[in-house]
Amino acid sequence: MSTTSFPEGFLWGAATAAHQVEGSNWNSDWWEFEHQAGSGCAEPSGDACDSWSRWPEDLDLVASLGLGAYRFSMEWARIEPEEGEYSVAALDHYRRVLAGCHDRGLVPMVTMNHFTLPRWLARRGGWEWDQAPERFARYCRRTIAHLGDLMSWVCTVNEPNIVAVMGYRFGIFPPAVSDGARRDLVQSALIRAHHAGRDAIKAAGDHLRVGLTLSMTDYQALPGGEEKLEQIRARMEDGFLAAARRDDFLGVQTYSRARVGPLGTLGPEEGVAVTQMGYEYWPQALEGTLRRAAEVLGGVPLLVTENGISTDDDSERVEFIASALRGISRCLADGIDVRGYVYWSLMDNFEWVLGYGPKFGLVAVDRSSFDRRPKPSAAWLGAVARANALGTQATPAPR
Ligand code: BGC
Repeated sequence: MSTTSFPEGFLWGAATAAHQVEGSNWNSDWWEFEHQAGSGCAEPSGDACDSWSRWPEDLDLVASLGLGAYRFSMEWARIEPEEGEYSVAALDHYRRVLAGCHDRGLVPMVTMNHFTLPRWLARRGGWEWDQAPERFARYCRRTIAHLGDLMSWVCTVNEPNIVAVMGYRFGIFPPAVSDGARRDLVQSALIRAHHAGRDAIKAAGDHLRVGLTLSMTDYQALPGGEEKLEQIRARMEDGFLAAARRDDFLGVQTYSRARVGPLGTLGPEEGVAVTQMGYEYWPQALEGTLRRAAEVLGGVPLLVTENGISTDDDSERVEFIASALRGISRCLADGIDVRGYVYWSLMDNFEWVLGYGPKFGLVAVDRSSFDRRPKPSAAWLGAVARANALGTQATPAPR
């Protein structure tokens, strides 16, 4: 197979999120939710991967693999444990992590809010509380004042569309509500939070590049499903894309496609493999969503902040990433400004309501000793990153 090179400076990384890897995140709404009878959670997050203590090992891993960037999140519930009360110790902790990235030559990509809220905020109504966007901006301002000099890429809110749909429509994430009007209200609160947070962060320095990350699906209409597709996409994506027009970048996060018929989305197509998450194995989806984001956003740079597969078959992971990367390369060839690829996830971790079942990681984590064991896909992606090219490594043929 021929070699596909990526532009100079293309960022290669892996991602995690605080609640999914740090462990003992007692002061968050998710911790409370996991321990509620009937929440539907497979198991509580517990110690997770103990990354709160073992972060130097995590950073060593990222760097030794040959990746150049690490995406992780700040935990609001630790930084602002009670309303208006900030923990300098927690901020200092993240300062050590950021400095640790720089010491190892890693570009840090920081997410300010990845799904979890401090309990005090959840008690006030979470994103439905009219002051929540302003409180988010205040937390961003305080955090950036302490850490901004060590940051570069900053994501405000992770997947606001998923927070709204899972928490307020499907009732699967806290606060487990199913109410279309409340979902709409939360969507607009999250957009306000993104804008207010972005302004607070940008005010701290021109070196900070700020954007939101959006969960994007490669929607494909079946005959008669065109109108339904537009309706679904309008709610899931378009409002957020419109809100990102003045951002420094958009974080695109894609896992699969969805076929849409006249009545809505359909299940997996017969004959198409399904991942542990129940998604169709469809690595081409990333190319589709990048093209759509570029079409809507024009010149706003795109960064793949999440893409990955949940599987026990690590060669399937390599094949999935290779196929997704070939899609990025076609986008680049067509002039679409894609700045980097960040795999979800660095390691197997707490997959929200599904607990520790799904395996997205490049690195396996022993659940009792917390030992990290890189899978072959980790070395493979590291080799791609080092070469800044695909095709020089032994790569399975596309299926
Ligand atoms: C989220 C991650 C999650 C991943 C896999 C994204 O929606 O940002 O927290 O683990 O998808 O489901």
